[in-house]
Amino acid sequence: MKVVISKKTHNRHLYKGEGDFHTKEGIIFESQFEGNPSSVLNNKEREHIIFDAQNMDKLAKIKRGPQIITPKDLGYIISRTFTGKNSKIVEAGGGSGAATLFFANIAKVVHTYEIREDHTEIIQKNLDMFNIDNVTLQTGDLSEHIEDEKDIDLLFLDMPEPVPVLEKDIAGLSSGKFICCYLPSISQIQELTDFVKENSHKYYLEEICETQLREWKVWDRVARPMHRKDNDFTAFLVFLRKL
Ligand SMILES: C[S@@+](CC[C@H](N)C(=O)[O-])C[C@H]1O[C@@H](n2cnc3c(N)ncnc32)[C@H](O)[C@@H]1O
Repeated sequence: MKVVISKKTHNRHLYKGEGDFHTKEGIIFESQFEGNPSSVLNNKEREHIIFDAQNMDKLAKIKRGPQIITPKDLGYIISRTFTGKNSKIVEAGGGSGAATLFFANIAKVVHTYEIREDHTEIIQKNLDMFNIDNVTLQTGDLSEHIEDEKDIDLLFLDMPEPVPVLEKDIAGLSSGKFICCYLPSISQIQELTDFVKENSHKYYLEEICETQLREWKVWDRVARPMHRKDNDFTAFLVFLRKL
């Protein structure tokens, strides 16, 4: 996969690596990509810069099923819990595998559960695209498997009903380890906090928050925040500690 940037307009595209490449500015023929050139002229003599797509570029091309988590939220989850190269993450639901891809990139091992078979297939395709080999992916309801998991550093729950998982005896999550629940609606937060209050001997509520990222456009005399849907409200993050 290649990133192609027009030198004149700075329009940016992803070339999947097959066939002639058509843009509004003309055509780059498949043969012109042979030999990994760093720049080519299209059929209208416009120069284009070419480089290998980085993982962040490829993310735009992953297969999507359910709504994916955004980098702004993932960045905070990872830094807030100090998750790193020695960590084991257990997560559900896998969804489209976006969180899985980021987690796999920084953690030692990721165990992902997804209740829907069709979503599991999407996640597997996306893992294959990124050549990831430290993820164990399983179709199933996490609440039926959580008691089998051992030595968990972070339990990440991006699913509508996290309580049935938290009701289980999570012996694999030792005292002080993190749970992060990702929930889009305040009524879900209410239900979760009611549960934590009733189970205050088992869980400590550390933080409820949302993250905000505001991108700016600054070009010539334009200098203003950009309107971008994916930077609006996404979900609440609830950080719990196992007691
Ligand atoms: C919003 S999606 C997760 C998105 C994912 N984090 C991503 O970034 O691509 C929620 C997923 O949870 C799955 N799910 C719901 N309940 C579950 C359960 N009890 N165990 C496992 N997966 C579950 C759903 O099928 C759905 O695919």
